[in-house]
Amino acid sequence: MYDGGKIITGLIIFIVFMTFPIWYNHGNAGNIPKPEKPQGVTQCVKDTAYMRSSHMVLINEWRDEVIRTGNRTKVTVQGKEYDKSLMLGCMKCHINKKKFCDECHLYTSVNPYCWDCHFLPKETI
Ligand code: HEC
Ligand code: HEC
Ligand code: HEC
Repeated sequence: MYDGGKIITGLIIFIVFMTFPIWYNHGNAGNIPKPEKPQGVTQCVKDTAYMRSSHMVLINEWRDEVIRTGNRTKVTVQGKEYDKSLMLGCMKCHINKKKFCDECHLYTSVNPYCWDCHFLPKETI
């Protein structure tokens, strides 16, 4: 005869063990990135959903306009003008690359090479 009690106990331990990562994270995919919001402004250069999905498209458009056609018209957000620029546009508001850009890029393993040439704002941790 086999011992039903022991088998059930064994099964329960097995299930708890195998599903540990799921319930331990409450069903989450780990630490979701939390990019730091800029201070003193509430809007981006386009709506947030567009920025989240397509900022890399916009930034390339800016670059092409500036470099290929010399179009340096400024972008106005909440009454203030910004250059169509990585450093003098995006990073004027998103002042901390580590706590903003990198927060997502590390999570998704993208590594834009832009900063090989472009300056970074001074970071104060
Ligand atoms: C090989 C060096 C190099 C790399 C790498 C590079 N850039 Fe540039 N970028 C330049 C130069 C030079 C200019 C011209 C600066 C000017 O005329 O104001 C420029 C201008 C720009 C501009 C418009 C003006 C400005 O000052 O920002 C944007 C926007 C831009 N680059 C975005 C990017 C992005 C985004 C990446 C990464 C995907 C990138 N660049 C990678 C060299 C580089
Ligand atoms: C005028 C200041 C300002 C400028 C310039 C600006 N942003 Fe933003 N950006 C913001 C603010 C404020 C938010 C948050 C909006 C919100 O809370 O809905 C934001 C949101 C974003 C988001 C979404 C973040 C998230 O939490 O999902 C991305 C990505 C982004 N910006 C990238 C950029 C890039 C790339 C540039 C340059 C092409 C840029 N921003 C220029 C102020 C700015
Ligand atoms: C809300 C998350 C998030 C934030 C914040 C964010 N990015 Fe991104 N970024 C992404 C994702 C995700 C991708 C990859 C998209 C893809 O592969 O289609 C990406 C891709 C890019 C690319 C294209 C890289 C490539 O190799 O194709 C550039 C350039 C870029 N981001 C610039 C920036 C800059 C500059 C900032 C900070 C001002 C920033 N991003 C902030 C999520 C973010």
